[in-house]
Amino acid sequence: MINLGVLGNGTVGSGVVELIEKNVEYIKKRTGKEIFLSKILVKNPEKHFESDHKNIITNDINEFYDEKINMIVEVMGGLHPAYEYIKDFLNMKKHVVTANKDVVAKYGEELSSIAEKNGVSFRFEASVAGGIPIIKPLQECLAGNNISDIRAILNGTTNFILSKMFNENLEYNEALKEAQRLGFAEANPEADVMGYDAARKLAILSSISYYEKVDWESILTEGITEIDEVDIQIAKKLNCKIKLLAVSSKETEGVYAAVRPSFVSKHGYIGKVNDEFNGILVEGDAVGEVFFLGKGAGKLPTASAVLGDILNVLENNNQRSMFVSTAPRPIITKWKKKAQWIIRLHGQSKDKLRALVREYFKEVCEVHCELPEVYAAVVHAENEEYIDAIIDKLKNFKEVEKVKAFIRFDGI
Ligand code: HSE
Repeated sequence: MINLGVLGNGTVGSGVVELIEKNVEYIKKRTGKEIFLSKILVKNPEKHFESDHKNIITNDINEFYDEKINMIVEVMGGLHPAYEYIKDFLNMKKHVVTANKDVVAKYGEELSSIAEKNGVSFRFEASVAGGIPIIKPLQECLAGNNISDIRAILNGTTNFILSKMFNENLEYNEALKEAQRLGFAEANPEADVMGYDAARKLAILSSISYYEKVDWESILTEGITEIDEVDIQIAKKLNCKIKLLAVSSKETEGVYAAVRPSFVSKHGYIGKVNDEFNGILVEGDAVGEVFFLGKGAGKLPTASAVLGDILNVLENNNQRSMFVSTAPRPIITKWKKKAQWIIRLHGQSKDKLRALVREYFKEVCEVHCELPEVYAAVVHAENEEYIDAIIDKLKNFKEVEKVKAFIRFDGI
């Protein structure tokens, strides 16, 4: 008999409970074990007095330390106290399944090694890309590869917002409200829109894929709050879309890792990922490119990954740590290869802006923009330091009021 304690009853927690109850018989048939929902931790039990689960709902964490509870599902989110609870439960030899990317990105290595020492499992498939199986494929099915690159959309909320802005001309704030209503966004959506959520997920994937320690806080992170309809129009003219792209690659001197709004072809794998869907393109030396697509946020897609982990634990308890215990790898935040960049300049004289861009860049392909104060072009640069240096120079001209630049990734 498996006695389960569920910490949290928000969007994901209620999805997990629903899915377990729907699959009790199937779980028994598949694993030979009966699963029993013992306790659900909530903040305010009084809000749940009409719930079917009111008898097992509590706000007292001490009830979960009961030795009869042998597996914990942590879906409360946030770093603290989730981290402390998980650590305690692993030390008490309870298996833990979590969807908490904040905890996994920061303490994944420590918690995995505590689990290993105690002979229990610590699983976190739902912490990256919601319902898409990605942690297990990277750790197991693709283990025969040297993985060199990850290019991904890892945040459902921002992909939903950018899709609505692109497809339905929705305002940024309207689209964000809709994402919150649908339960995709974090309690504080700053983590979504500023790119921190995607950076945490990129760190988890990169650590597992490259078997190197990647610190999420060192990743270059830019959010989508400054994207406006002019950027969207420019993207449309180039047959592109703007995506909050999470990119990492294994380099000899460290790991390149960045999360930022980027232009991608609207016909490529990544360009076709819409709404709350996530997409992850992984490159391995043996397998070549593998693309994973699915719902990256939401109640049941995330619960699907949690239940998959629960079944995995029931069927196979012993699991070695997915993380390497070494010093973090240096993070490279500047793109070192040749690339196209879209630059957008604001000023009183479009002719002057055009002349300046043509003076500083050899290859310029202008993008027609109706607004008299905006000049946009695609330019080529050997690397990011080069483009940064030119932008700094352009900003010094009194005729240039504002400059924006986006990297463009083709072939994804
Ligand atoms: N807020 C997250 C997202 C939820 O939008 O992707 C899933 O991690």
